[in-house]
Amino acid sequence: RIAGPCGLVIFGVTGDLSRKKLMPAIYDLANRGLLPPGFALVGFARRDWADQDFSQVVYEAVKEHSRTPFREEVWNQLAQGFRFVPGEFGDPAAFAQLKETIDELDRLRGTNGNHAFYLSVPPKFFPNVVQQLKESGLSDGGPESWRRVIIEKPFGHDLASARELNRVVAEVFAPKSVFRIDHYLGKETVQNILALRFANTMFEPIWNRNYVDHVQITMAEDIGIGGRAGYYDGIGAARDVIQNHLLQLLALTAMEEPGSFEADAVFAEKVKVLSAVQLPEDLGQHTVRGQYTGGWQGGEKVLGFLEEDGIAPDSITDTYAAIKLEIDTRRWAGVPFYLRTGKRLGRRVTEIAVVFQRAPHLPFTDTMTEELGQNALVIRVQPDEGITVRFGSKVPGTSMEVRDVSMDFQYGEAFTESSPEAYERLILDVLLGDAPLFPRTEEVELGWEILDPIEKYWAENGKPAQYPAGTWGPAEADEMLARDERSWRRP
Ligand code: BG6
Repeated sequence: RIAGPCGLVIFGVTGDLSRKKLMPAIYDLANRGLLPPGFALVGFARRDWADQDFSQVVYEAVKEHSRTPFREEVWNQLAQGFRFVPGEFGDPAAFAQLKETIDELDRLRGTNGNHAFYLSVPPKFFPNVVQQLKESGLSDGGPESWRRVIIEKPFGHDLASARELNRVVAEVFAPKSVFRIDHYLGKETVQNILALRFANTMFEPIWNRNYVDHVQITMAEDIGIGGRAGYYDGIGAARDVIQNHLLQLLALTAMEEPGSFEADAVFAEKVKVLSAVQLPEDLGQHTVRGQYTGGWQGGEKVLGFLEEDGIAPDSITDTYAAIKLEIDTRRWAGVPFYLRTGKRLGRRVTEIAVVFQRAPHLPFTDTMTEELGQNALVIRVQPDEGITVRFGSKVPGTSMEVRDVSMDFQYGEAFTESSPEAYERLILDVLLGDAPLFPRTEEVELGWEILDPIEKYWAENGKPAQYPAGTWGPAEADEMLARDERSWRRP
C-alpha cells in the first residue's frame, strides 16, 4: 500500500498537532517508502515565513518526534517538496497564491492534481477555509484527479453545531472526499478489537449479556491541560474524548460482526450500536464530572485546573467524566457500559475491560475464594499494548485456595513488526482513499445525541466534584459504581 502521486496541504501548520504528530508522521511515511517520490507538503498559516523557515520547522519537528531513524537522503528528497503559503483563513488572495503553488507543484513534482487539505484549525475557521477552497477552485481537481478534506476534532460542540459543520463541509465536498480524524481508530490495539472478536472462535460465544456482567472503558491521562487552556476550557473531558474516542471504542466492542471489512459494512454495524445506546434515567446518580485540584504526581508538584494559565478561576469545565450507558439490543440488554476519562489521574492508561459474571455456583467455601474476583478480558489499548485475561487459579500449597491470576499477550513480545503511529496510518489511508477508519457524519451526530443530554444536565446542576491530581478521580465516581454494587478497576 503505497500512495500514488499526491500532495498534502496543512492549514494551521504552526499548531501543536502539526509539529508533534503530522510532520513526524509524514517523514516516517516517507522513510518507510510509503509516499511517492514527488510528494509535496504545503503549510498554510498566519505567519510571515518563507519556504526555508517552514522547512526548518519541519526539520526540528521530525528530529524531535519522528519514530524512524533520520536518513539524510529521505529528508532531502522530501524537503524539496515543501512550500509555505502565508495568509488568513478567509483571504481570497492567500488562496489564489495557494492555488498557484499547487499548480506549480503539479508541474514540478508530478503530484497530478491530487491533493488533500488538512484542517488542523479551530472549528470556527472551518467555514472560512472550506468556502475559500471552493471559491478559489481548489476543492475540485477535475475528472482526472482527487481533492480530499481532512477534519480534526472537535466536530462541533453539540449536536446542533456538529450538524451545521457537517452541512458547511457537505456543500463543498462529497461524503467520500471527507475524512474525519478520530486518531484512536488509527491505533493498532483499537483495530485489533475487531480481529480479536471476529478472527477467533473463543471469545464471541461469551461476548453477550448471558456471560458479561459489565464493561469498563477507561481513558486515563496523567498530563494536565498544559498549554491547551484556550481549547479545553468550556469543552471539557466528555466533549474532548467521550463523544469521539470512547464511543468509538464502545461501538467496536459492542457491534455485531460486519459482513466484510469494507467501510460501508463496518459503518452500518457501528451506527446500529450507537443508535441503540440508552442513557440512564437518573443522570445525577449515574454520571459524574470532576475537576483536578493541585497535588503530587510522579514526585512532581502540579497545579490545580483552576490555577492553570488561561483558565477562568470560576471555570466549571470537567477534567474528569464518568458515565453509565446501556445498549438496547438482544446481545447487550441490561449490561452496563461504564465510560470514564480524566486528566491528571494516577497514570496514563487506556483499556477496555469486559468483566464476566461470577460462576453460578462455587464448590468452594468463602475462605477458599476470598481472593477470587470476576473473570475479565482486558484489552490494553495503551501504553502497555496487549490483552490480559484474568481468571482464578489454585494457589500452590496443601489447601484449596483460589486466587486471581493473569494471562498476558504483549504486542512487544509477540511481534517483531513495529506499530506505525496512529497519524501515519490515518494520513496514508486518506492519500489512498481508504475510508474504514474514519467516522462518518452519522457517527459524529450520534455521539452528540448521546452526550448532549448529559452536558445539559451538568450545566444545570452545580459544579464538578474535585479530585486531587495524581488520584483516580472524585469519590463520587466510586460511589456511582458502588450504587450498582461494582467498583472501578485500578489499572
Ligand atoms: C486528544 C484529546 O484527542 O487525545 C487530548 O484532545 C488527549 O485531550 C489526547 O490528550 C490523547 O491521545 P492519546 O493518543 O495520547 O491517548
